[in-house]
Amino acid sequence: MQDKIIVITGASMGIGAALALQVGQQQAIPVLVARSRVELEAVAAAAHPLALAIVADVTQRADVQRVVAEALQRFGRIDAWVNNVGRGISRPVAQLSDDDIDAMMAVNVKSALYGIQAVLPHFQERGTGHIINVSSMLGRIPFASIRSAYSASKAFLNSLTINLRMDLRHDYPNIHVSTVYPGVVATEFGLRALGGGMDSRHFPGAATAEEIAAAIIGCLQTPRADVYTRPGQHAQVAAYFSAADVATVEAGFGGPPPGR
Ligand SMILES: NC(=O)c1ccc[n+]([C@@H]2O[C@H](COP(=O)([O-])OP(=O)(O)OC[C@H]3O[C@@H](n4cnc5c(N)ncnc54)[C@H](OP(=O)(O)O)[C@@H]3O)[C@@H](O)[C@H]2O)c1
Repeated sequence: MQDKIIVITGASMGIGAALALQVGQQQAIPVLVARSRVELEAVAAAAHPLALAIVADVTQRADVQRVVAEALQRFGRIDAWVNNVGRGISRPVAQLSDDDIDAMMAVNVKSALYGIQAVLPHFQERGTGHIINVSSMLGRIPFASIRSAYSASKAFLNSLTINLRMDLRHDYPNIHVSTVYPGVVATEFGLRALGGGMDSRHFPGAATAEEIAAAIIGCLQTPRADVYTRPGQHAQVAAYFSAADVATVEAGFGGPPPGR
């Protein structure tokens, strides 16, 4: 990975910040993207002397295109692009508004699509590159109905990722496309969810941001289509979809708080 240029969206905190630090430890150069300048620049300074911090809102296509332009201007190439930005929501299906759906699509789907579409021409020109989309186990199994629109947006992201890989396979076999499926991670994700809710940092058995970052580093080193970040998660997905009666399995999942 030495000297590879790795763009990471959502790198001012949480998984993205942990990933930027680990990218630096691999002697690769992170390009960090988020909206909070002070936090972003602090992570960049800790990650690598050549790290580049770019303040941008990835729900805006023009901002994402600017990220590509600034990274290419500074380094002349991009080797990998990690679409890591994401936001949760705490709202049962019956209460979802149009604005809720639009917000989930903008931050969890369009942000990644903008990244894909902005960097892909560069990867195609070079015939090489790696796009990693950070999804969620909730995009595979609906463990928490309170997260319904988030889960759906991550399932949308999963489909985009798979189909992009299919589109590129024949003509661009050296452009890799991967999905990463973390379970609950101890970051501020829960607190920052639309509608508030559970603090992911205190969820029993939550993974650390560093654990997920290490899984993404593994994928950068050895590209794979699907990355489950804990043993047993892939089997859990297979068991859910092959159950004779999914409703029985769902009875063990989380639902809305009592009384709602
Ligand atoms: N934590 C979990 O339990 C968990 C579980 C499964 C999957 N995931 C996924 O993992 C990814 C990272 O989550 P996390 O836990 O690290 O979340 P986090 O701690 O809330 O961090 C989110 C990051 O995204 C940035 N961001 C948010 N909106 C942005 C926007 N519009 N433009 C640019 N940057 C933006 C934030 O920085 P600024 O506010 O400075 O912009 C921050 O750096 C997400 O895709 C999430 O869905 C998380």
